[in-house]
Amino acid sequence: MTSLSAAREQGKGLDNPKALYGGSRNRRVSVRDLALAKERGERWPMLTAYDAMTASVFDEAGIPVLLVGDSMGNCHLGYESTVPVTLDEMTMLAAAVVRGTSRALVVGDLTFGSYQEGPVQALRSATRLVKEAGVGAVKLEGGERSLAATALIVESGIPVMAHLGLTPQSVNTLGHRVQGRSEEAAQQLVRDAKAAQDAGAFAVVLELVPAEVAAEVTRSLHIPVVGIGAGPDTDAQVLVWTDMAGLTGGKVPRFTKQYLDLRRSLGDAARAYAEEVVGGAFPAEEHTFH
Ligand code: KIV
Repeated sequence: MTSLSAAREQGKGLDNPKALYGGSRNRRVSVRDLALAKERGERWPMLTAYDAMTASVFDEAGIPVLLVGDSMGNCHLGYESTVPVTLDEMTMLAAAVVRGTSRALVVGDLTFGSYQEGPVQALRSATRLVKEAGVGAVKLEGGERSLAATALIVESGIPVMAHLGLTPQSVNTLGHRVQGRSEEAAQQLVRDAKAAQDAGAFAVVLELVPAEVAAEVTRSLHIPVVGIGAGPDTDAQVLVWTDMAGLTGGKVPRFTKQYLDLRRSLGDAARAYAEEVVGGAFPAEEHTFH
C-alpha cells in the first residue's frame, strides 16, 4: 500500500445506506443534514481524526463528522494536554484530514490562544482553518464567554460547534471533574447551551456532564447535542479515535469504549517484524528484486 488513493480502493466503501445520516454518497455531509437528522430523531456518530490515512478509514466507514480535535495534543503530538497545540499544528493536520476524506464534514478546533482575545482574533483563526485547511466548520470552547466570537464567525459564513461542560483548554482551572452536578451549575449549562444556539452555533458538544443534565440540554435545543461522557440521551456521540481503537496507552476515561486493541496489535506486528529481520526471515524471495 503506497498511497491514500490505493488505500481507498482497497477500502470497503460506504456500503450501508442507513449510514448516510441524511447526507449523500456524492457530497460532504453538511450542517443542514445534521439539523435534519435531529428533526428526524436520527442519532449519529462522530470521531476525532488527526491524519489523512486514518481519516480515510473513518470516512469509508460512514462516520459523518470528523473532528480534528485539539486532543491531538495528547493523542498525536505527545503533549501533556491540549493547551500547547498551536493553530499552525491544527491547520496542518486538519488539511491532512480534509485531503483524506470525501464525504465527512470535517470540523477543526480553534486552539487555545487562537480566539480568547476576542471575536476578531477568533474570526481570523476560523478563516485560516477554512481557507488553508479546508474544514467545513470550527469548534470553540465556552458558553457565554465565547458568544460574541461565535456570532461573528457564524455571521461571516463559517459554521460553529460550541463545546461546553468540561472544556479541556481550561484544565488548569477546571481539572478533569464532571461538570454541571449542582442544580445551579446544571441550569447554567442549559443557559450556556441555549445562548450558543442563539448565537448561531449549529451543534453543541457536552463533555463530562451528568446524563440527566445532558438529556435536559438535548430536549431544550433545536440544534444537535453531541455527547462525550454525557450519557445516552444526546443526539450524537463523539469519541477520541485513539481511545475508541485502543491505541491510547495507560488509563482511559470511564466514558470511552474500546472497540479494538490496536496498541497490542501494533506492538505484536512490530515485534514479529523485528524477529523476522533479526532471524533473516524478512525480506523473503517474494520481497526481493533481482
Ligand atoms: O479535542 C477533542 O477531541 C474534543 C472532543 C473530546 C470533543 O474536543
